[in-house]
Amino acid sequence: MLERSCLAIVLAAGEGTRMRSGRAKVLHEVGGRSLLAHVLEAVRAAGCTATAVVVGPDAEAVAIEARRALPGTETFVQSQRRGTAHAVLAARQAIARGADDILVIYGDTPLIRPQTLSRMRAALAEGAALAVLGFRPQDPSGYGRLVLDADELVAIREEVEASAAERAIGLCNGGLMAFAGKTALAILDQIGSDNRKNEFYLTDAVAIVRAMKLEAVVIETEEDDVRGINTKTQLAETEAVLQQRLRKAAMEAGVTLIAPETVFLSADTKFGRDVVVEPFVVFGPGVTVEDNAVIHSFSHFIDSHIGKGASVGPFARLRPGARLGADVHIGNFVEIKASVIEDGAKANHLAYIGDARLGAGSNFGAGAIVCNYDGMAKHRTDIGKGVFIGSNSSLVAPITVGDGAYVATGSVITHDVPPDGLAIARERQVVKENRASRLRALKGAGKKKAAE
Ligand code: UD1
Ligand code: MG
Repeated sequence: MLERSCLAIVLAAGEGTRMRSGRAKVLHEVGGRSLLAHVLEAVRAAGCTATAVVVGPDAEAVAIEARRALPGTETFVQSQRRGTAHAVLAARQAIARGADDILVIYGDTPLIRPQTLSRMRAALAEGAALAVLGFRPQDPSGYGRLVLDADELVAIREEVEASAAERAIGLCNGGLMAFAGKTALAILDQIGSDNRKNEFYLTDAVAIVRAMKLEAVVIETEEDDVRGINTKTQLAETEAVLQQRLRKAAMEAGVTLIAPETVFLSADTKFGRDVVVEPFVVFGPGVTVEDNAVIHSFSHFIDSHIGKGASVGPFARLRPGARLGADVHIGNFVEIKASVIEDGAKANHLAYIGDARLGAGSNFGAGAIVCNYDGMAKHRTDIGKGVFIGSNSSLVAPITVGDGAYVATGSVITHDVPPDGLAIARERQVVKENRASRLRALKGAGKKKAAE
């Protein structure tokens, strides 16, 4: 089947007004990825050879996201919203180029699985001119109903056009359709707008296929595949379904999730084997975790890499560009950004490391920080291997600390430290013998006076 060429047309010209948002609907995210990118990923995985995204007027951001998510995607503008068939025909140029299979998918159904798209294509390979994705929703209101005669699909009736008997049909149109390329334009060009909404309904294709004595078939699937998003509530419901899928896939791949319902994953989160994730951890986009790493509770990661056998958290924050090597230890209240932490290095308590390298086996003490920003620009800190950074030290970047160096506790380091150097940069301690009791007496007298 894979030898067949396939054009996917993704309709993303929706107004999305019910999202109550300044952002286009398909740019909202689930699993750390836009709705549109999810659909395009399914299209790619189903082996489509060309992709066209139909966007509304003034939707440059949607077009940009389409090209980012799936390079090579063409975009077409539907300048007036005149119905689903009208939207498909905005991509006429792409259709006219000819493809064996043409898939029409809505940009707001992010949970569509590649295997469902493949089932639709298989129906075309077996000779159908049109395959419609059907499902049986708990509540069918609002959906087009699939009208069958015995086993044959004869029409799709939009709810506003349907008779009472037709409204009683439980099998509904999921919206996804697959057209055989050779007859697609002949079918689409016959669709008119003679209906209550004065729209060009893609669903009219079924009756036209019948009239042309071609075959239209239904492929039935589960509701999640075609779960469309119109509101923020539906966005959250879809997120919940996606999270369940992602957690299940992670566990099936050998990750231990102690309380899976409390762990939030992204569609692109990657785990090695025998990773353990404690309760309440958030994996934002772009995170990879290698074998045997342990992620402790209440940690938050974005665009980061966690090496083999590393231990991270509780309460750790990895921001974009954090790269932890093997057996690294990152403890509580430690934040790392755009930094490489080499094998075996440790930052166990209350630290900030940004725009830096912490060399292999080095120790970054409690409360120590890198001062990477001077209010105008960011600067780098380079800490070599086997270095000890004493607690509560500040490393004022740009700065280099050589291999094996030792920074004394409480230092403010403003000059480079050579390899094996010992840097102490703090006030010398002064001790005055037997003066504590005198100090108390003095202060006590002051207090008494003030109270009088
Ligand atoms: C459509 C189907 C209905 C099906 C339902 C499944 C038609 C006529 N009806 O109804 O049978 O049960 O989806 O969710 O196809 N769009 C455009 N331009 C337009 C109109 C729509 O790009 O001019 C896009 C929308 O952004 C959306 C998709 O097409 O992604 C579907 O449009 P929508 O208005 O949601 O159709 P429904 O009424 O839900
Ligand atoms: Mg809809």
